[in-house]
Amino acid sequence: METYYVNGFFKRRNSAKISVEDRGFNFSDGVYELISYLDEKLIFFEKHYSRLSKSLLSLKISSPLSNKKILKLIIKRLIKLNKIKSGYIYIQITRGTAKRNHVYSQQIPPNLVIFCLPLRKIEKFKRGVKVRTSEDLRWGRCDVKSISLLPNILEKQIAFNQGYYETWQTKDNYITEGTTSNAFIVDRNGSIRTYPKSKHILGGVTRDVIIQIAKKKSIKIIEKAFTLNDVKYCKEAFLTSTTVKILPVIKVNDMKINTMKIGEITKILTYNINKKING
Ligand code: PDD
Repeated sequence: METYYVNGFFKRRNSAKISVEDRGFNFSDGVYELISYLDEKLIFFEKHYSRLSKSLLSLKISSPLSNKKILKLIIKRLIKLNKIKSGYIYIQITRGTAKRNHVYSQQIPPNLVIFCLPLRKIEKFKRGVKVRTSEDLRWGRCDVKSISLLPNILEKQIAFNQGYYETWQTKDNYITEGTTSNAFIVDRNGSIRTYPKSKHILGGVTRDVIIQIAKKKSIKIIEKAFTLNDVKYCKEAFLTSTTVKILPVIKVNDMKINTMKIGEITKILTYNINKKING
């Protein structure tokens, strides 16, 4: 039986409940994090905790967690109770429960829900995935990991229905990021290019780690936006996220990348991020 953590209590699935007046439910007024774990070991926990704190601060939602030690303890217990050795931890914090009114009171306590998800099967994607592009319709604060994900889920669904893994979103002709992942190319000169950290993208934890690895391996990294024309002439492309870590991108719309083979830089980064995670 799955166990969920809801506002201070470990609850079985049927009794894990949140009010219909939760502001997350009514207004998407909340934030989340997804953290992966392997053999009960949390991956890049500090980075996720720090992003969660920043998201809360940006929306002026008070944190229901007094510190990261408490959160870690809750998660460890949850993993044991669920008997899922490796998977993902989903953490959602909303502004709280109140009669529906756009204006909110600072007094209401936030709602906290945490649960475990089993590892996703991604083996088939490791040989490379196809990506389509479409206009970025999201709001102006994509750096906040908000639970408001309508444009993301709609574009991800279109990608799925059409046989693509992901949609790369474009703003003024520049590729910002995927709906669930950050986007990268390796340009003609062998430099990695990715959209700069800004309000237009989510600063991915995996993105940060990949940049760290690239620097260590003396691979040049340019945090500068790229266009579809840059994709046309690129040597490699890849995407990163907590769920998949890094995946080679072998086709963007109808453009084949590196004759649909995994590129050398993507291989180096994949090897090194796996080494970092598996210790
Ligand atoms: N999504 N950009 C967007 C829009 C995302 O939703 C995600 C992650 C990323 C990658 O961030 P990170 O490397 O920190 O996972 C970039 C998660 C996996 C999700 O919503 O399930």
